[in-house]
Amino acid sequence: MKVKNICCIGAGYVGSPTMAVVAKQCPYIKITIVDINESRIAAWNSTDLNKLPVFEPGLDGIVKEVRGRNLFFSTNVDKAIDEADMIFISVNTPTKTYGKGKGMAADLKYIELCARQIAKVAKQDKIVVEKSTLPVRTASAIKSILDNTGNGVQFQILSNPEFLAEGTAVQDLLKPDRVLIGGDTSSKEGELAMKALVDIYANWISKERILTTNVWSSELSKLTANAFLAQRVSSINAMSEICEKTGADVKEVSKAIGMDSRIGPKFLNASVGFGGSCFQKDILNLVYIAKSYGLNEVADYWEQVILMNEHQKNRFSDNIVSTLYNTVSGKKITFLGWAFKKDTNDTRESAAIKVADNLLNEQAQVSVYDPKVPEERIYTDLDYLNTRSSDENKSLLTINNDPYKACKDSHAIAILTEWDEFKNYDWKSIYKNMQKPAFVFDGRGLLNKEELKEIGFIYYNIGTGN
Ligand code: NAD
Ligand code: UDX
Repeated sequence: MKVKNICCIGAGYVGSPTMAVVAKQCPYIKITIVDINESRIAAWNSTDLNKLPVFEPGLDGIVKEVRGRNLFFSTNVDKAIDEADMIFISVNTPTKTYGKGKGMAADLKYIELCARQIAKVAKQDKIVVEKSTLPVRTASAIKSILDNTGNGVQFQILSNPEFLAEGTAVQDLLKPDRVLIGGDTSSKEGELAMKALVDIYANWISKERILTTNVWSSELSKLTANAFLAQRVSSINAMSEICEKTGADVKEVSKAIGMDSRIGPKFLNASVGFGGSCFQKDILNLVYIAKSYGLNEVADYWEQVILMNEHQKNRFSDNIVSTLYNTVSGKKITFLGWAFKKDTNDTRESAAIKVADNLLNEQAQVSVYDPKVPEERIYTDLDYLNTRSSDENKSLLTINNDPYKACKDSHAIAILTEWDEFKNYDWKSIYKNMQKPAFVFDGRGLLNKEELKEIGFIYYNIGTGN
């Protein structure tokens, strides 16, 4: 079967970039991305490409090329489902905030709503693809909902988890390390459905990089990949604290171990802590799954990755307070960066949020500059914590669109995101306009320690003694 019409439910950080790239590489497929969020769809349809809801290098150019050609954004979910041969479910699967599994399990209500809507609308056979990250065995729940509608439509469920990282989404989609497709390997219909999806990716990805597995392996591989990646960050962050006590330099340690081909050089940057919408959520989900099978040691093992990350964020803010003579009350502390990593406007679970919250508890005056994160997002992130009223957050934290103004008169600067532009600032002029002694707390190991010290800054880096 050759797929000609795709519907993708969910116009978020995954659905939209992924489908934009599929549309680019497969001009013969008509793709409609649908979402219940009307303002998001309106923004995707905006003629001003700077207003697209997701900032990703290279994405605007692709959207310009394919939008209106074979990629469409719409709020008419039923119509797009009805017309499609293949439906990707790419909705959010956040950590549950209520009931059983609160704070750990993935909340699958949006997934179930999609399955029910597909069941209600579909009149012809469809292939349903799980693009969202899901707990292992979710495909059976989706299948059960779809198969019990009584309208005789045949559904094949595939798992096709997405491995893109934000900030490099377009490159990751154009040249993925691998594509993973899980399906019902025991039936001819299952094999045919998997082949239909393989054929789409094969338009630009070599067959050796397209893996097919049983559906459970595919679902579990996604959680496993994120757990392993986050574990590397927590492992190097744990070593960063030992480095600070012993005089070792974590960058040198990373380089030394990364040259071991069994370890490899990537994902060994010590930092203020990992953020993003995936790592914490997916590990908590893994921990919950392990506990639900009574595998308590397995659960404890993975939970430690999260605990280490919390510790890293807290010790960063603790170090700022203790270095500034044990009080930051009324002192201006400037954050350069709010996004959870560079080249994205996404702030979900960003370390900056926790660090700011800790410093605001100490009555610091926090001033924030981020090149891509909108002002209202920063306040929403803080308000969501419910630590203090929205008015208090607004009076304690200010946002500035000019980094030099943001830094003016501050006692300390904290680097929370590794935006490239920070490296090229006129640090001499920033120093001149700060309170003295002027401190820099580099949560990303981004700046040149020797240069900053030469200018006069007192400079603290993660993972190096002084
Ligand atoms: P997102 O919140 O940016 O987007 C999800 C979209 O789905 C929202 O716009 C929401 O309005 C829409 N939606 C929810 N229910 C809907 C419904 N019933 N009908 C129509 N639209 C609906 O989320 P995201 O970051 O794109 O993540 C989506 C999934 O992909 C999650 O499971 C996530 O774990 C996974 N994932 C994310 C990343 C990432 O880097 N963000 C990477 C890999 C996998
Ligand atoms: C991650 C996975 O990499 C991706 O495969 C998956 O599909 C979604 O989750 P993402 O969260 O977008 O992607 O970004 P990633 O590059 O993994 O960074 C996550 C966090 O870890 C960021 O806060 C980043 O700054 C931090 N990090 C990463 C480090 O602190 N050190 C590192 O060496 C690498």
